[in-house]
Amino acid sequence: MALTHLRVEGVRIIESADLSPGPGFNLITGANAAGKTSLLEAIYLLGTARSFRTRRLDEVRRRQAEALQVVGRVEKRGRTVVQGLRRQGAVTELRVDGEAVGRASALAEGLAVQVITPDAHALLVQGPRERRRFLDWGVFHVEHGYRRAWQEYYRALRQRNAALRQGAPDRLVKQWDGLLVGAAARLDEARRKYVDSLRPHLDTAALALLGESPEVEYRPGWGAGRDLAEVLSDQLPGDRERGFTHAGPHRADMELTSAGIPVRSVYSRGQQKLLVAALVLAQVRCLGERGQGRAVLLVDDLAAELDRVRRRALLELLAGSGAQVFITATEPELVSMPPAGPHRVFHVEHGRVRQVV
Ligand SMILES: Nc1ncnc2c1ncn2[C@@H]1O[C@H](COP(=O)(O)OP(=O)(O)O)[C@@H](O)[C@H]1O
Ligand SMILES: [Mg+2]
Repeated sequence: MALTHLRVEGVRIIESADLSPGPGFNLITGANAAGKTSLLEAIYLLGTARSFRTRRLDEVRRRQAEALQVVGRVEKRGRTVVQGLRRQGAVTELRVDGEAVGRASALAEGLAVQVITPDAHALLVQGPRERRRFLDWGVFHVEHGYRRAWQEYYRALRQRNAALRQGAPDRLVKQWDGLLVGAAARLDEARRKYVDSLRPHLDTAALALLGESPEVEYRPGWGAGRDLAEVLSDQLPGDRERGFTHAGPHRADMELTSAGIPVRSVYSRGQQKLLVAALVLAQVRCLGERGQGRAVLLVDDLAAELDRVRRRALLELLAGSGAQVFITATEPELVSMPPAGPHRVFHVEHGRVRQVV
């Protein structure tokens, strides 16, 4: 897949922009606060209905603008899909080929977009929520039944938690366990398999970027090797006290270690950013390997925290990743492109986007 046309309205500093990205590398240059990240944010919105900077879309809408809107044309296996997102007042509308769609996953099916930001290291140092999201993004794009298992699991979990909160009798709490455990097994298996398929690609990318490849360990969210049904039953008194279910795939995590020590406590920020880049590149590879097409990869402020040698290594991996890539940089010199050079260069100034090459 590739994003061949993009129209942005009312996204932060961008009043309106219209651009036709190239299928390979797209470099976006501009001074500080020109609107480079805003442009990436618009592309991310188009594939996820979320921002990577805030949970509140209203912060993304340009001040004084009535609405925020992003529309993109995506070429996918010889087919063209037009998809878009519009937020006006408190209402967000998603559309694919002119039809209103209810779920962000419909946008994700059209555009598999991932981002590497200057604070990418947060993925490794913060709590497990973002790592689960990372994992789920990957599995969602390669495993067809995954979304359904995910929805079933979370529906059952909400019901069970509601019963716990209301102090319902054991029988009413436990009636959800069967559904919960069934869906959990499907989530767990898909996630486990996914981490296994990620590992060799992570090794390759991490070796190229860091000179070593850390261990990645999948944690299911409950006691290793234990039967979840049993754990739920054992922990029922504790769950009652807490008012929610403690154990399960909603607490899954990925642990990354170097020589047995968590990378968050031994790697520098630059190394952490490179490792996150390696993880994202590995995901993109998995996607391609499974015939799920190309991903769109956003790299915000590529030069931040990276020396010249690492920048070069990252650019080479990006060029070989098969993804459509959007890179921002304050100076084009910071991103001296691999041999073929960038397909397109856009310059942003006060929120106005202009194609220069
Ligand atoms: N909702 C908004 N409406 C208008 N301008 C905004 C909004 N949010 C942020 N900005 C402005 O957009 C600019 C930042 O754009 P950004 O895309 O982060 O720049 P860059 O990545 O090029 O440094 C800042 O000047 C900021 O004040
Ligand atoms: Mg920026």
